Amino acid sequence: MILSIESSCDDSSVAITDIATKKLIYHKKISQEAEHACYGGVVPELASRLHAVALPALLKELTPYFNRLKAIAVTNQPGLSVTLLEGIAMAKTLAVLLNIPLIPVHHLKGHIYSLFIEKTSTFPLLTLLISGGHTQVIRAEHFEHMEILATSIDDSVGESFDKCAKMMGMGYPGGPLIEKLALKGDENRFDLPIPLRNSPRIAFSLSGLKNAVRLKVEACGGRESMSEQDKADLCASFQKAVTLHLLQKSKKIFAKEPIKDFAVVGGASANRYIRNAYEVLCKEFGKKLHVAPFEYCSDNAAMIGRYALDAYEKKQFIDPNKIDIVRTKKQQSGMLL
Ligand code: KG4
Ligand code: ZN
Repeated sequence: MILSIESSCDDSSVAITDIATKKLIYHKKISQEAEHACYGGVVPELASRLHAVALPALLKELTPYFNRLKAIAVTNQPGLSVTLLEGIAMAKTLAVLLNIPLIPVHHLKGHIYSLFIEKTSTFPLLTLLISGGHTQVIRAEHFEHMEILATSIDDSVGESFDKCAKMMGMGYPGGPLIEKLALKGDENRFDLPIPLRNSPRIAFSLSGLKNAVRLKVEACGGRESMSEQDKADLCASFQKAVTLHLLQKSKKIFAKEPIKDFAVVGGASANRYIRNAYEVLCKEFGKKLHVAPFEYCSDNAAMIGRYALDAYEKKQFIDPNKIDIVRTKKQQSGMLL
């Protein structure tokens, strides 16, 4: 079995995955959303301290599995350095203590592998990753070859939902709150710009749209003056604009990429409005849409464990003294390594 640990942001999570059957045996996560809510976003120092309490508590429940463990897997990048280090410290200690290999896992590859927790893996795969930290289209040829085809030049999808919710005084995380309120809103009431609409550039940008939302909030007299209906209408209009932006750029990629399997992963892939829009787009382009079960869209150790199974097979281990959170040159050149 492999014990996996995730602490790249505000979720402390551990999982146990069976090597022979590839099945998830145990999975638990402690979310810090409530603690960060009053700040409208994640406070790294606070997140780190909360991981320092939650991770050992989670680990305590896993002691019955210790004598069956063959490896420890841990997210080592990308993420908040002070929170990654909490998971890494625990993983290193366990690997040394139990004298078993340590597997470093790239968090974004983990999100792609969230698709394979309950299903067999599918490659090659074209993937849209929409999370709190990233918006990327990745061509995953196979386990070891994942290339970034498009990326965001400013705010990510999840981040833009969080910031717009904060502007309207709605709480954190903004994604699920905006999605819920948008159900009661008129998506055509507010005229918002579709980012990079007239640009041939295949990239994502949401800071301009975020600013347009800010101006609409001001035009309504500020968030205190907004009625629930005003907020619902702005949520719906914003969600529609984000989705149209994603679809427009995805279409350009679809026109060039023959890969039939397409996936949407990451925290914001739990959004039903976005999922439904991609269902329609994939039908139009003859692609098969893959999404992870809702519980595995946001950060979790189950996806890290699932990736680690393939890494274990390939013996992609790291010396506990050499595990780091530093990016390699290859990653900067567009490969997920
Ligand atoms: O993947 P994730 O858990 O963490 C990162 O790797 O960043 O993504 C968290 C992000 C948050 O910004 C959250 O607001 C967003 O995912 N999110 C959503 C929804 N559920 C979570 N965004 C839009 N609609 C949702 N239903
Ligand atoms: Zn994530």
